[in-house]
Amino acid sequence: MSNVFTFSIGRKLIMSLMGLFLCAFLLVHLGINLLLIFCDTTEPFNIAANFMASNVVIKVFEIGLFGGILLHIIYAVILTIKNWFARTVGYKVGNNQQTSFFSKYMVHTASIIGIFLILHLMDFYVKAKFLGGATSVTYEDGKTFHDLGALVIARFHIGWVVMVYIVALLGLGFHLIHGFQSAFQTIGLNHPVYTPIIKGLGLFYSVVVAAGFMAIPIVVYFFK
Ligand code: HEM
Repeated sequence: MSNVFTFSIGRKLIMSLMGLFLCAFLLVHLGINLLLIFCDTTEPFNIAANFMASNVVIKVFEIGLFGGILLHIIYAVILTIKNWFARTVGYKVGNNQQTSFFSKYMVHTASIIGIFLILHLMDFYVKAKFLGGATSVTYEDGKTFHDLGALVIARFHIGWVVMVYIVALLGLGFHLIHGFQSAFQTIGLNHPVYTPIIKGLGLFYSVVVAAGFMAIPIVVYFFK
């Protein structure tokens, strides 16, 4: 019995650690993407995005990233199915009364993010990098890059693409609001003083990340 318990705590711990790792990735990804709207040309974005694609350390990180996404999804699915079964046999989860609006919709927001990620990676990653979906550009120093900036800008001039990104990013923001603080609780940070601070920090992080990503398609659509 205790084995089963520690095994599922272990899975939740891995899911939480992977979630926090993905939170860190999102900040780096957002920082690079914001170059698109803060710089006059797409050159700084292209250099940064292509550096991310060519650096060996980043390549290892990328494998970890895709592994992290997969682990996060697999453990989330297992936990969700187990919770459904637990509920049908009348098992009461300890902090049921604390169930917030955002925690109730984690599966729904996760599904939105999952569908978004498939479309996003097909378009900006697989097609752009491996199937010739992005043109090439050569800068003054003679270096040639995939023109990912031009591709992103072309996509964000299409109204429905902008709408899809906004819906997905709202889903991401809602998912992060609960996910961020829940991950810290799972790794053991449950304290009368620190928990409210982490919740506040999580809310701040979620709003900054969702609004920051959302600004990109909106600014590109109207001003670039
Ligand atoms: C306006 C929003 C976004 C833009 C313009 C954007 C753009 C891009 C581009 C151009 C790439 C391929 C080049 C690169 O590797 O940097 C990429 C890769 C990727 N994006 Fe995004 N992205 C956005 C939002 C997101 C969000 C919200 C997520 C996660 C929920 C995400 C997850 C990823 C992942 C996992 C990769 C592949 C990993 C990598 O190579 O860095 N992206 N994105």
